[in-house]
Amino acid sequence: MQNLDTILKHALEELGGIDDPVELEQAKARYLGKSGAITELLKGLGKLEPDIRRESGARINKAKEAIESVLNARREAIQAISLEKQLALELLDVTLPGRGQDMGGLHPVTRTLERIQGIFHSLGFSTVSGPEIETDFYNFTALNIPEDHPARAMHDTFYVDEAHLLRTHTSPIQIHYMMAHEPPVKIIAPGRVYRVDSDATHSPMFHQLEILWVDEEVNFTHLKGVAVDFLQRFFEKEHLKVRFRPSFFPFTEPSAEIDMGCIFCEGKGCRVCSHTGWLEVGGCGMVHPNVLKHVGYDAEKYLGFAFGMGLDRLAMLRYGVNDLRLFFSNDLRFLNQFD
Ligand code: PHE
Repeated sequence: MQNLDTILKHALEELGGIDDPVELEQAKARYLGKSGAITELLKGLGKLEPDIRRESGARINKAKEAIESVLNARREAIQAISLEKQLALELLDVTLPGRGQDMGGLHPVTRTLERIQGIFHSLGFSTVSGPEIETDFYNFTALNIPEDHPARAMHDTFYVDEAHLLRTHTSPIQIHYMMAHEPPVKIIAPGRVYRVDSDATHSPMFHQLEILWVDEEVNFTHLKGVAVDFLQRFFEKEHLKVRFRPSFFPFTEPSAEIDMGCIFCEGKGCRVCSHTGWLEVGGCGMVHPNVLKHVGYDAEKYLGFAFGMGLDRLAMLRYGVNDLRLFFSNDLRFLNQFD
């Protein structure tokens, strides 16, 4: 029985220092298992005198309970430790700043178009669109472009098959719209157009913008007023000079080329304007009576003006971009500058 005190002392010391659940169970077996130290003592009770047996039994059981309660306390402590370890591993720092949202930006040509639309919508024009694959009729014939016009030559036009082509300008959108609507017509028609051409200022695909106003009283002064107002507002230059140079288009008569004072050198002459002080921005004119007839309008009653501009060119001038191809090469180093 002297032994019991030593066993108990060892047991409590040993168990109290264990951190590992497996080790703890092994230690338990050594004291309380089938041939554990305490179990062996209990087994020996039978050989003792009844009086001593009772007393010894009570003492051994007390020791056993003491060991069990230390065991339980250790189990709980070990569980708490492993939970803490687990939590430390899964630690989430909720104070870290978020990754933020990656947002795409609008393409500079799209931004330019939106700006232009804002100006024309404020003047009462609405935006319409049309197909990019056209027939000869809409792209040429209805626009009074005769069979032998150079614009029909193969080197200019992408043909899809015998009957279809990729539109070479946005003017066919006018035809679609006028065939479907009676005057008054007050539209802008932006879109992609295609020509067999490729260098720093020409791309096989580019964008045009067409403006059309047809009504009973529309005349060339309306055309000048709208074009000048538009350019001055678009370039935010109240005193921007605009001039109209006589020109020729099969679908307008009279026709003119629109030039504006160079915004880079203020007319003094620089590389951008080829030292002329002027920049070409588009073609225009009064809608040819043949075009009005083709769409079924009364050419005696209605007059209209049309003008067309290169959307990409306007974007280049506004943003100071010197190579058209930059717009279409999808280089993020370029595109990110417009975010
Ligand atoms: N469609 C012409 C072109 O592509 C531009 C234009 C439009 C000219 C409207 C006059 C009137 O060159």
